[in-house]
Amino acid sequence: MKIAVVGTGYVGLVSGTCFAETGNNVTCIDIDSEKVNKLSNGEITIYEPGLEKIFLRNTREGRLKFTTNLEDGIKDASIIFLALPTPPGEDGSADLKYVLGVASQLGKILKPNDYKVIVDKSTVPVGTADKVRQAILSSSNNTLVCGDNGAFEVVSNPEFLREGVAIDDFMKPDRVVIGANSEKAKKVMGDLYQPFVRQGNPIIYMDEKSAELTKYAANSFLATKISFMNEIALLCEKLDANVDMVRKGIGSDDRIGKRFLFPGIGYGGSCFPKDVQALIKSSDEVNYDFKILKAVEDVNEKQKLHLMPKINAYFNNDLKGKHFALWGLSFKPNTDDIREAPALYIIDALTDAGATVTAFDPEGMANVKKQIGDKINYAENQYEALQHADALIIATEWNEFRTPEFDKIETSLKNKAIFDGRNLFEVNEVRAKGFHYESIGRN
Ligand SMILES: NC(=O)c1ccc[n+]([C@@H]2O[C@H](COP(=O)([O-])OP(=O)(O)OC[C@H]3O[C@@H](n4cnc5c(N)ncnc54)[C@H](O)[C@@H]3O)[C@@H](O)[C@H]2O)c1
Repeated sequence: MKIAVVGTGYVGLVSGTCFAETGNNVTCIDIDSEKVNKLSNGEITIYEPGLEKIFLRNTREGRLKFTTNLEDGIKDASIIFLALPTPPGEDGSADLKYVLGVASQLGKILKPNDYKVIVDKSTVPVGTADKVRQAILSSSNNTLVCGDNGAFEVVSNPEFLREGVAIDDFMKPDRVVIGANSEKAKKVMGDLYQPFVRQGNPIIYMDEKSAELTKYAANSFLATKISFMNEIALLCEKLDANVDMVRKGIGSDDRIGKRFLFPGIGYGGSCFPKDVQALIKSSDEVNYDFKILKAVEDVNEKQKLHLMPKINAYFNNDLKGKHFALWGLSFKPNTDDIREAPALYIIDALTDAGATVTAFDPEGMANVKKQIGDKINYAENQYEALQHADALIIATEWNEFRTPEFDKIETSLKNKAIFDGRNLFEVNEVRAKGFHYESIGRN
């Protein structure tokens, strides 16, 4: 099939590359000409394990191309994916200006007798498929017809990939959700996804509104699991219980499950914070007070800074002139994505209190430098970050931080103090080495 993907970020690039990998001809379109130039020259623009190899193979074999020109990019495609940003607007609702902007452009360039399926892959509020349809029709001055004999139909196909394991998630999804009313569009989408569900995972067809809500419900449920566990961890600290034990105790129950039960310094990233906010806003708009989600968000906001009182107490509430090593900047391991990363909130809190920071992250430093420049120093490796530091703070659970050389940490730090926001080490073992060690939910 011939496919166009509009928006070549984390979702667009992964989707486009994986569709090419199954033999389709894919053109990815982006307004960022620097990004398109790099990709056209064989240079990958995001860090995502496993992506580069299949990106290079498919560009070399001519199945994956890049352009800034929407009209050129979509002209031969029978399916057009919209993988555009949906950031929070000022009131927390999803800002649809990118999605509807491209829809309006499409209305001007689609041809009356050249049927195409337009697919919302962005995470969008209930009712967006209809808005996309209306935007296309009205910008065409109603010269186009929507329908299986017309110029286009709109389908909702939310994306569930996780950064860090995006290729696996895309190539072998737990499920594919397709929100469509038309049999013709369902068939086109079903054919496209067949190679991805050969092991029997389902393609679930539903109406477009339910598909749109499914994505928000999934992310909000996962965020709820995290905030719930973070509150259990806070309670453990007060009651002198150990959250690791509680986690194992409840996770072995199939109904609860082992995943997403690890406490820490809150969720970040480009999805959970904005999707939780957007679902709260959508609920408010229909006069539904989504109490649980409001609490989930509130708990997470506080959790990002949960290490600060511990750090302050250790340094007698005086961080002025203190210097900290910070391991981890990305919002989670195996990605260079720093959007809403808890590390950034910790950096603000430390520097506001007069402290300085040297950070190390295996993949996230370039993006942080772009965002906050020389507000902090950047180290070549995790041990260089420790030089002259008063204490070590850990904000992201990269594997390479899990079994560090504690001798090196001891000799580099001025105080043998580690504040671990991701519970990487066994409390007793680190304390037996003479460290002051604080983590989450384990006194
Ligand atoms: N990142 C994830 O893990 C993830 C997972 C599932 C769903 N989503 C959803 O997918 C959507 C995209 O997310 P992302 O993380 O890929 O965003 P992103 O910011 O990484 O990528 C968006 C891309 O769209 C481009 N763009 C903006 N306006 C454009 C236009 N008019 N024409 C062409 N390109 C344009 C930008 O330059 C950028 O490259 C969002 O709705 C997000 O919520 C993201």
